[in-house]
Amino acid sequence: MIWIYIISALVMMIVSLKVFTIFFSGAFLNLIMRFIHSNLETVKMKLFDEAISNIKNTKKNSGNLEILELGIGTGENFRHFPKGSNDLNVSKLVVSKAEEMVGIESNSMDVVVHTFILCSVDDNKKVMNEIYRILKSDGVCIFMEHSVDLKKKPKKYIQSIIGPLITDCKFINMEKVLSSGPYDHLELKFYQINKFWMTLVNPIIYGYGLKKIK
Ligand SMILES: C[S@@+](CC[C@H](N)C(=O)[O-])C[C@H]1O[C@@H](n2cnc3c(N)ncnc32)[C@H](O)[C@@H]1O
Repeated sequence: MIWIYIISALVMMIVSLKVFTIFFSGAFLNLIMRFIHSNLETVKMKLFDEAISNIKNTKKNSGNLEILELGIGTGENFRHFPKGSNDLNVSKLVVSKAEEMVGIESNSMDVVVHTFILCSVDDNKKVMNEIYRILKSDGVCIFMEHSVDLKKKPKKYIQSIIGPLITDCKFINMEKVLSSGPYDHLELKFYQINKFWMTLVNPIIYGYGLKKIK
């Protein structure tokens, strides 16, 4: 009998959370994303520095960089864009799915940035192929995503079942997804946000992929 009460309470909780997230969709998601990003500032600073210096070294590019961020959200990554780009020049705002960026020319971007979007897109393989297409040779894609936790079975189960119900995003094996991308060189690292209530978001996977065509 007690199990019926517990299961009903859980179902009610999930349904109310779902209704809540739909009702407050934009504002609620933005708030959560800001909390998540506030725990990742140091990691992102190092990530952007390493990835950008990498392409600057190879291209000896001291001029402006063409940067495209996919699904910018509330612009949490702008402060990590290369020094000197404080006076960010927004040259184009493209409204399209990342799977098909028809408005963006091939080989036109020095840097592509995406954080926490591969869990929401319809086809992550198509997105990565599109990124590769629009990157210039020696260009870099900087990313940070979250993954299903393969090391902790109960958590993996909760993420797979409850995650999509309350957040509308898929909990997938992001290491496998990113490793199967088209990049010619890939750097991948993991990070855990050390806060109990962010357990479901962990592990974070981040790094960069380079396009190198001779
Ligand atoms: C969880 S939010 C992350 C926002 C932001 N990148 C951040 O890190 O705060 C997911 C984002 O993915 C975007 N998104 C979902 N499907 C997409 C698609 N097919 N192509 C491009 N962006 C997509 C949404 O518009 C939303 O901004």
